Amino acid sequence: SEQKIPTGHGKVILLGEHAVVYGAHAIAAPIPLAMQAMVSDSDEDGIHLIISRWGVEERLQKGKEYRYSIFNSLSLILHELGLEKENMKIEVFPYVPRAMGLGGSASLAVAIIRALAEKFKIKLSLEEISQLAYKSEQLVHGTASGIDNTLATYGKFLLFQKGNPPKIQELRVPQPIRIVIGLTWSESLTAKMVSRVRRAWENNKRLYNHIFKEIDQLVLEAAKAIENYDLEHLGQLMNINQGLLNALQVSGREIEELVEIARNNGALGAKLTGGGGGGAIIALCPENAEKVAKAIRNVGYRAYITDLK
Ligand code: MEV
Repeated sequence: SEQKIPTGHGKVILLGEHAVVYGAHAIAAPIPLAMQAMVSDSDEDGIHLIISRWGVEERLQKGKEYRYSIFNSLSLILHELGLEKENMKIEVFPYVPRAMGLGGSASLAVAIIRALAEKFKIKLSLEEISQLAYKSEQLVHGTASGIDNTLATYGKFLLFQKGNPPKIQELRVPQPIRIVIGLTWSESLTAKMVSRVRRAWENNKRLYNHIFKEIDQLVLEAAKAIENYDLEHLGQLMNINQGLLNALQVSGREIEELVEIARNNGALGAKLTGGGGGGAIIALCPENAEKVAKAIRNVGYRAYITDLK
């Protein structure tokens, strides 16, 4: 019989990362299949987590503080759902690279929450799933805005503003938007970058609030550009957003190199996506995605073409 495997969506942030933590709007789109999880019975004692593709295989020990955030997140989820005393095997199948700013940790949490809810017949609304994933994200990122868990849960093209609950508005995209995702060889240092921005903001709130405000304005303009399919303008706004992210010091050498390659090969806009400090860039390439992807691969990085919708 056809079985639907519980899924969490990955995401790319088109514009607004970091500023979103301070109340600015941000725009994000799902990467369709990011993470699947399955929970099955186990004759052995305790909880066994297996993520073969990431080389993770671990028996969870109660009360232990793990070095890896995955185990701490999982412990929290099991505790919140009242399942920590059950015996089970949890298998996770990731289709996104780890720590690349593509929402890996949030989609992992959402896939596991859905798989547990299904297995133990716990009814959870979308809000409850997202909220629980948010709690587990707080362990990983400290002061997360909630954009990653929201995207991982809803899997829609969204204009997002943080809040309790967050304000989300689905964007109508007239046609799929073709992008190239370029990967650096460095992990995205989301937690480190978020706290770096916080320190800078604390030292000069007026100056940084101004940058966040600027980003908020261009995100709202970009939302209109997306709904009007004005990709030239969207690209321009992405480029300016990259300049402002650079001002926040969350860019990096590899990111700047990838951005430059993408623009030199005809991308309408290119910028980092997610936490920065490493991780991934996105390049808006309605016509020349192959060329941009090839140019990125030619200098030894990885590139993927995908359509946002
Ligand atoms: C991470 O995907 C996005 C950041 O804005 C952090 C957050 O919003 O929680 C950098």
